[in-house]
Amino acid sequence: MQACSRRGFLSTGVMAVAGGSMMSNPTAQAQQKGLIAAKKPVFVATWNFGKPANEASLRRYTEGGSLLDAIEEGIRLTEADKSNASVGAGGKPAANGKVQLDACIMNGPGSKAGSVGGIEDIMHPISVARAVMEKTPHVMLVGEGARAFAIDQGFAPANLLTPEEHDAWKTWKKENQSLEVGEDNHDTIALVGLDGEGNLAGGCSTSGLAYKLPGRVGDSPILGSGLYVDNEIGAAGATGVGENVMRFCGSFMVVEYMRQGLHPEDACAETIRRIARLDGRPIEELHINFIAVDKQGRFGAAGTGKGFPYAVTYPGYSQVLQSKALSQRAIGIEGGNAPIDQQP
Ligand code: GLY
Repeated sequence: MQACSRRGFLSTGVMAVAGGSMMSNPTAQAQQKGLIAAKKPVFVATWNFGKPANEASLRRYTEGGSLLDAIEEGIRLTEADKSNASVGAGGKPAANGKVQLDACIMNGPGSKAGSVGGIEDIMHPISVARAVMEKTPHVMLVGEGARAFAIDQGFAPANLLTPEEHDAWKTWKKENQSLEVGEDNHDTIALVGLDGEGNLAGGCSTSGLAYKLPGRVGDSPILGSGLYVDNEIGAAGATGVGENVMRFCGSFMVVEYMRQGLHPEDACAETIRRIARLDGRPIEELHINFIAVDKQGRFGAAGTGKGFPYAVTYPGYSQVLQSKALSQRAIGIEGGNAPIDQQP
């Protein structure tokens, strides 16, 4: 992670805390939180690996790509990173030892979308999702049909299971075989962006829960759950235990809270509170996290337990921040949004 001083953080573009108390004014609200992009395009992505992904997105956009090209490029970077055991190649397999990937992409203008679920042997499901969107009359393809479509479109089949993950899976089969749903086995890249014309787009990609039942599909390729883009309002994405997002249309809910006027960070937090109320379990047990950006360039994130790192990038600024954290004790908000290398 890049070191960054407090001075550097303030000077690179995130607007400093403003003194005004016009909380009904969205810009004043965002300035008070310090969470508004000073320049466009702005990209917001989940986890530490979201930062290089965002930077790839910004590069692609700067080189003349569309916002959608930029989103796809950022996610492709993460999918190709074999050291990342939760997205793309190198992802942990399902219980049968096969890596099964989920992804979706959505473009704000026209609300166009494409998605693949449980696709095997294809390194870049985000690009297959885009091909579903652009080259078929459908929105979602799954399993063998998705794989056959990808190969037909020229995607080369590849073995996505690395020797390390193969060994880890063999050990799991021999010693464990439980399906643990915890902090470390569900990281997803969700990446959302806003350009200078006020258009929004987003994508989401994951290998899903480690050692899941073969055929299990999580929230990530489900529009409205792992990702949602509304070109009038904003975009949101999710990471965490998909079962605790997809029962509630989590990303759609975040966007709807933004429509009601909430700052993206508050919209993410309110979504988690509402899911926790409906689910009934202690909030820490849900392992869910959201990112969001709105049409004004305000951004934010919230997660259960200690929260989670998320990345924000725009011209002259790229940083990993800590999200708001919601715990049962407070059912409220603790900490968040200092650059992550300065968190206590
Ligand atoms: N959020 C990723 C999954 O549950 O599959």
